[in-house]
Amino acid sequence: MMGGGKFSSFFVVFVLLVGSGSGIGVNWGTQSTHPLSPSKVVKMLKDNGIQKVKLFDADAGILDALKKSGIQVMVGIPNDMLYTLANSVEAAEKWVSKNVSKHVSSGGVDIRYVAVGNEPFLSTYNGSFEATTLPALQNIQAALTKSGLSNRVKVTVPLNADVYQSSSEKPSDGGFRPDINNVMLQIVKFLNNNGAPFTVNIYPFISLYADPNFPVDYAFFNGYQPAINDNGRNYDNVFDANHDTLVWALQKNGFGNLPIIVGEIGWPTDGDRNANLQYAQRFNQGFMSRYMSGKGTPMRPGPIDAYLFSLIDEDAKSIQPGNFERHWGMFYFDAQPKYQLNLGSARGNGLVGASGVDHLAKKWCVLKPSANLNDDQLAPSVAYACQNADCTSLGYGTSCGNLDVHGNISYAFNSYYQINDQMDSACKFPSLSMITDKDPSVGDCKFRIMIQTDSAELHGKVGYLTTVLCFFVLLLFCNPWF
Ligand SMILES: *[C@@H]1O[C@H](CO)[C@@H](O)[C@H](O)[C@H]1NC(C)=O
Ligand SMILES: *[C@@H]1O[C@H](CO)[C@@H](O)[C@H](O)[C@H]1NC(C)=O
Ligand SMILES: *[C@@H]1O[C@H](CO)[C@@H](O)[C@H](O)[C@H]1NC(C)=O
Repeated sequence: MMGGGKFSSFFVVFVLLVGSGSGIGVNWGTQSTHPLSPSKVVKMLKDNGIQKVKLFDADAGILDALKKSGIQVMVGIPNDMLYTLANSVEAAEKWVSKNVSKHVSSGGVDIRYVAVGNEPFLSTYNGSFEATTLPALQNIQAALTKSGLSNRVKVTVPLNADVYQSSSEKPSDGGFRPDINNVMLQIVKFLNNNGAPFTVNIYPFISLYADPNFPVDYAFFNGYQPAINDNGRNYDNVFDANHDTLVWALQKNGFGNLPIIVGEIGWPTDGDRNANLQYAQRFNQGFMSRYMSGKGTPMRPGPIDAYLFSLIDEDAKSIQPGNFERHWGMFYFDAQPKYQLNLGSARGNGLVGASGVDHLAKKWCVLKPSANLNDDQLAPSVAYACQNADCTSLGYGTSCGNLDVHGNISYAFNSYYQINDQMDSACKFPSLSMITDKDPSVGDCKFRIMIQTDSAELHGKVGYLTTVLCFFVLLLFCNPWF
């Protein structure tokens, strides 16, 4: 054992290469008020050595930007399309033709997976997608087969880890959630028959968020003690335990070898007392070290296939799950890195932000120092700003949680002003607001300036074209010779 120095370093290199497969993946969501241009994001992915992305739809602009990038792609079908795709073979064929075949054949987009639905069996959906997920999966698979793509493009269904559970803290007591056990077994059988993977989203952060008594260190990868002993297998972090609960659920039903993709894993940086830069860095780096070691989990030794959640903050996401929902990015909304992270590429510790992202002018909208805090319009103005902008960095334990009342109100006004592209009319809260060129940020609490979007430029161009067109149409109608 001791004399194997050369062999083991060779082995380590081998595992690093094979273990990381084609490298870590990332989720690229686009629910932002000011999305970055796809080409800038693709360049950023390459600069960070990221070779796999998971999308939540099949946006043509994004797929075009991924053309010949060498990046592997999982395209997604939103839940609201499941009903149509479940009930129409033709709709499924159209979807595949327009959103997969076209890009693969003509564009050279390396599509590897179609994600059918997104966490369709979440308890909060009340079973709305229970009847349609499997038929949609079957129709998409049939369409892929018909188009001759089924060998290179696999189907899957990204499921939240709430589709399985354990009756104790031990993974070996795992099984599928009783209310969906039947449909889960049918889906698993279908995936297995088609050489397709099981995709699961695992969130140690949510364990901590949902249960104030959850041991904080068990959420991370630093060897929590006492570890849970499951018949000789030791669990010192909740990721392993959660993942292996799934492995047991599969194994008990005869599918112990079904490949597993971790579709989403990550940690948010704001919007909750446990969502901060330190925890996010600790979790993601801990996961990446585990990933790069190629060690896997006690029940599934070997490489893990995984997609970090997520690439960039999305300020237009629903905050129904919690205020943290808009802060999952490794990068801020403007594609600047939040913390150091070694993703296992030659890059080392630094995340590389996108270049060529232009911010709006250095202007902020704030509460006038002279404003009357008892003004009747104050509460409704703040409520309106927060409803239509983003106040998720206010509140207990968040990055701007220590602002005073004045700062709080300014934060809300500024968010509204920025999201509306610094329009003068967006800083006209009656006798309350004013525009300033003095940055109101304090410490970690940043009063952000929005970015210029390419779509704003595009709208400008479309507007111009429409004006020109209307002018000609008017000419036609007004022309006295007609
Ligand atoms: C292709 O995907 C896009 C984006 O998800 C969607 O809007 C469109 O309806 C899809 N096309 C078809 C033919 O279903
Ligand atoms: C699920 O049911 C609850 C309680 O009956 C209801 O409040 C909620 O709106 C439902 N959600 C959906 C997505 O149907
Ligand atoms: C600031 O705003 C947040 C969110 O609206 C609120 O929870 C908090 O109590 C406010 N703090 C102060 C000092 O007004």
